[in-house]
Amino acid sequence: MTRSKARITAIGSYVPERVLSNADLENMVDTNNEWIVQRTGMKERRITDEGEFTSDLCINAVENLIQKYNKTVEDVDLILVSTSTADFAFPSVACQVQEKFKLKSIGALDLNATCAGFTYGLHVANGLITSGLHKKILVIGGEALSKVTDYTDRSTCVLFGDGAGAVLVEYDEQDPSFISSVLGTNGEGGIHLYRSGLSKEMNGLKLLGNGNMVQNGREVYKWAVRMVPIGLQTLLEEANLRTEDIDWFVPHSANLRMIESICEKSHISMDNTLYSVESMGNTSSASIPLALDLGIKEKKLHYGDTVVLYGFGGGLTYTGLVVKWGVPDR
Ligand code: ACO
Repeated sequence: MTRSKARITAIGSYVPERVLSNADLENMVDTNNEWIVQRTGMKERRITDEGEFTSDLCINAVENLIQKYNKTVEDVDLILVSTSTADFAFPSVACQVQEKFKLKSIGALDLNATCAGFTYGLHVANGLITSGLHKKILVIGGEALSKVTDYTDRSTCVLFGDGAGAVLVEYDEQDPSFISSVLGTNGEGGIHLYRSGLSKEMNGLKLLGNGNMVQNGREVYKWAVRMVPIGLQTLLEEANLRTEDIDWFVPHSANLRMIESICEKSHISMDNTLYSVESMGNTSSASIPLALDLGIKEKKLHYGDTVVLYGFGGGLTYTGLVVKWGVPDR
């Protein structure tokens, strides 16, 4: 990878106030706390109220970043929002963020790579800054998955939650964050995890869900547990690092059992792993920044740490990054 000239300089996050616990779900579908905890590790998740949408979560996450790190976003020259649950088909969530902060005429776009979206956004931001096209980019992962969850389907409704995380990526030639990256797509597996849109068919197969999420959890599980350790190996080889050099592994928080399995295969200790799944459920593209911000709150993650971020999900798609954590300790 070309030597990076971009540093992650600040982070913020936000989750809605409303808690959806396993006990609440027991009253909604035929499930129980024991099944959910045993199969997923999830205890509760946060969900939006009726009038609260992804743009609100993203805006709150940016406000949290500004407040905590005393940053301005006035000179941001691009907004990238990763989401698969935008308030509208268009305009994008990024445009709503631009309008909220009254940023002068700058680029703003959403990108959709589901649970790999936040790491994709970081990869793109690093590329644009390192190439000299941009200087300061806001990368946000935000989702209101509860809006597209079928709360009569026990196989999906126990899994998902809402939230947002935002980081600033700034030009910094002296102290760059980005060390190596790996990306991949398995489009043939798209049918295992989707939300239907204009077309009602994929690869000749009829789609279900009427706009809600549909997943073949078992297939996605097997794919991720097989693919992530392979990608991780490539990532470390490219960075010339060994597993023991990693301070923190931050995989997409899809399911705690899945994370444990990936860690076991990759010889990474769970003690060196950050996740948001227990208290927030699967928040798709928000899960990695939420886990990073939790890591800071718990005084685990510090400036200068070597961190592996690994997003994977619908597409099927994955993006892994080795970064030197560039956010100063507060
Ligand atoms: N409560 C109780 N029982 C349930 C529930 C529930 N909530 N859901 C399913 N079951 C039952 C099933 O009906 C089945 O019963 P049966 O054996 O009598 O038929 C049994 O539990 C086992 O079902 P499986 O679906 O095989 O359960 P599995 O162990 O695979 O766990 C899970 C399901 C948790 C969804 C898991 O497969 C998973 O986490 N997969 C990966 C999900 C993921 O990573 N998604 C990608 C990211 S999401 C994104 O990109 C938006």
